[in-house]
Amino acid sequence: MDEPPFATQRPEDPEVSFRSEKPGDIEQIHDLHISAFETGGEARLVRDLRHEKAFLPGMSLVAVADKNIIGHVLFSPLRIITKDLEIKAAALAPVAVLPAFQGRGIGTSLILYGLKTLGSLGVPCVLVLGSPAYYQRFGFDHSLVKHIDSPYQSEAFMGLELQNDVLKTLRGAKAVYARAFEALND
Ligand SMILES: CC(C)(COP(=O)(O)OP(=O)(O)OC[C@H]1O[C@@H](n2cnc3c(N)ncnc32)[C@H](O)[C@@H]1OP(=O)(O)O)[C@@H](O)C(=O)NCCC(=O)NCCS
Repeated sequence: MDEPPFATQRPEDPEVSFRSEKPGDIEQIHDLHISAFETGGEARLVRDLRHEKAFLPGMSLVAVADKNIIGHVLFSPLRIITKDLEIKAAALAPVAVLPAFQGRGIGTSLILYGLKTLGSLGVPCVLVLGSPAYYQRFGFDHSLVKHIDSPYQSEAFMGLELQNDVLKTLRGAKAVYARAFEALND
């Protein structure tokens, strides 16, 4: 798979590559979320999602520079159900880049790499809860999910279609998240 271009590339920026996580990455990924976020909630979310049956290492992606993990994005299986159908979607959460490497386009490239990976796995759509100013650049849009029953329903709750019209036409749908997300609401 081609690596996506950086949004910005300065001479001092490191060579960065992108790949799925390996078993030996788990500790570094944990430490990365501890460094990037103000609380340990996201590190715990990753740990808890890892223990769920539906966890797929192929949907946990890392950015690597000089053999060190400097970015991580996790997509976890998420069901969108209506009375007639079930869509096997993905939730994007969390994403983080080590503070020293932020603002150089690495998070953007990592998410683009992740979306391309999900597309090749046949995942039809992705939901996220986050900053519209950040996620709209990837095409995430609240209007696509405003009819979906979700504990996160708000302007910050957004969807992205990887297959045409999979969200746009949905009515009477409910998003069912992995159990690990419930701990975030406590
Ligand atoms: C958010 C994060 C993953 C972005 O990665 P990054 O490599 O720093 O981002 P990029 O260089 O690709 O993109 C930079 C852009 O992201 C924006 N941005 C960074 N953090 C942001 C945040 N928490 N909310 C909204 N926008 C954010 C910057 O303002 C910048 O915007 P611009 O391109 O319009 O100037 C990274 O900054 C990070 O780990 N932050 C702490 C953890 C976090 O908040 N994660 C959840 C994100 S909603």
